[in-house]
Parts: sequence; C-alpha cells; structure tokens
Amino acid sequence: MSNENKTIHEFDLSLICDYFSNMERQGPGSPEVTLKALSFIDNLTEHSRIADLGCGTGGQTMTLAKHIQGKITGLDFFPDFIKIFNHNAEQLGVQDRVKGIVGSMDNLPFQDEELDLIWSEGAIYNIGFERGLKEWRKYLKTGGYLAVSESSWFTDERPAEINKFWMNAYPEIDTIPNQVAKLQKAGYLPVATFILPETCWTDHYIAPKVTAQQLFLNKYAGNKAAEEFAALELYENELYRKYKAFYGYTFFIAKKIEL
Ligand SMILES: C[S@@+](CC[C@H](N)C(=O)[O-])C[C@H]1O[C@@H](n2cnc3c(N)ncnc32)[C@H](O)[C@@H]1O
Repeated sequence: MSNENKTIHEFDLSLICDYFSNMERQGPGSPEVTLKALSFIDNLTEHSRIADLGCGTGGQTMTLAKHIQGKITGLDFFPDFIKIFNHNAEQLGVQDRVKGIVGSMDNLPFQDEELDLIWSEGAIYNIGFERGLKEWRKYLKTGGYLAVSESSWFTDERPAEINKFWMNAYPEIDTIPNQVAKLQKAGYLPVATFILPETCWTDHYIAPKVTAQQLFLNKYAGNKAAEEFAALELYENELYRKYKAFYGYTFFIAKKIEL
C-alpha cells in the first residue's frame, strides 16, 4: 500500500506517541492563538473548573495555566503524553491546580454541569465534531464555554488529491458555515470563529515535526513501520504546502445555552 493510501489510524499507537512526544505541541496551534481564543471567554475565576480534552503533552494547557487561575484537568489517551504534561505543570509550578489524567474523551470522568470551560485543540476529531459537541455539553454549566479547534474546508470544492486524503483520514471535515450550524444545533451559542494563521502550521507544527522526525528515524533505524509513518507525516506536510488555500484549522468558541 502506498503512503498516499495509508492513514494514521493504521499505525501502532506507541509509534505515533513516540514520534509526537518530542514536540511541544501535537497539532497546529500557537500560544498567541490559544490566548486569542481565551479572550472571548469571560467570567473565569479561581473557582472555575476547566477540562482540556486530548491535551497531548499540554502545550496549550500550560499557556492557559499562565493566564487563568482555575483548576485545569488535562485528559489524554496516551499515558506517556500525560507523564510529560504533569512534568511540564511541575516545571511551571502549577501542579497544585493543573493535573493531567489518562482517560478517553468518549467516557469523561466529570459530573454533569461541573465544568465552566471545555478546551480542546485539534483533538475533537477523535470522536468526531458533532458527537463531541453533543456528548460534552452535559458536563458544562449553562453559560459555560466550549473552545475547540477543528479542521475545516475553506471552499465548497477542492482538488481531488486533497479531498481524497481527508475523506480517508477524517470524512467529517466540513465547511465553516456548516460547522457553526452544527454548534448552534447542538445547543451552543457560537461566540467567535477564526481561522488559525498559517504560522500555526509552518512554525509551530511542521518545523518542530521535521526535527522530531530526525530523532524518531535515528531511534527506529531499519524499522519499516516507523519509516512508513515518518513518510506519511512528510506527505501531510507536503499536502499542506500545496493545498493550504483549501483547508486548515478553525477555532470555534461557543457558549452553552438552555435548549
Ligand atoms: C492532534 S493531537 C492534539 C494535542 C494537543 N491538544 C495539541 O494541540 O498539541 C490529538 C490528541 O488527542 C489524543 N487522543 C486521541 N484519542 C483520544 C481519546 N479517545 N481520548 C482522549 N484523547 C485522545 C491524542 O493522544 C493526542 O494527544
């Protein structure tokens, strides 16, 4: 099977984890963009409860922790990411109120209406945008916020190569107006929507990925699966360079309203 046809879902999880552990973030984003999204959210206090779902090693969580006082729980599927997350929280001196836990976003360990804010950068796709919106809503207080970044189409039509890639990787990718409509339908008031700038991909994701890739390939020299995975990641970088006019990440900030 050529790399063009293989998706990330077909690789061993520990390989994927090892590859991305060497990066500050595991998806496109930046501290500036995290803070921009945060600027649309009001009423947070030291008593606020925040969850960062699919937090990875906590790149964006540590940015949040520096700017808000509440208690933050980072949740991720990969124990190795959570180890790094908790180490980062200690380094920052916020371990008393910022904790990483291993868990799955389709079975959250929170009480109904416990949370003031659900954050999730580049991760809701793991259960799907619509399902995540629907299932996570009950954990939010009325008036609480959801801030998620998600892949979006920028145009109604697009070249076949990039369409095929996304249909294999994540067919739920959609246009921004459709995604806003899904938010509204799921019981949220859309508060702000903005597209992540290209530097969130180039400087904060693809460049560190190239460095991480070198470390990864040295470690797994001769390992066919590792080489194939690395090649898929390079292919994804190349697709972004070629087709960035047609897709990217969008930040959606929304408020839970009574239905
Ligand atoms: C693209 S990364 C984004 C990580 C981080 N939010 C960032 O932007 O740097 C997606 C994250 O979702 C996590 N993940 C995948 N499936 C998950 C699940 N079912 N529950 C929780 N986390 C999951 C992965 O381990 C990974 O850390």
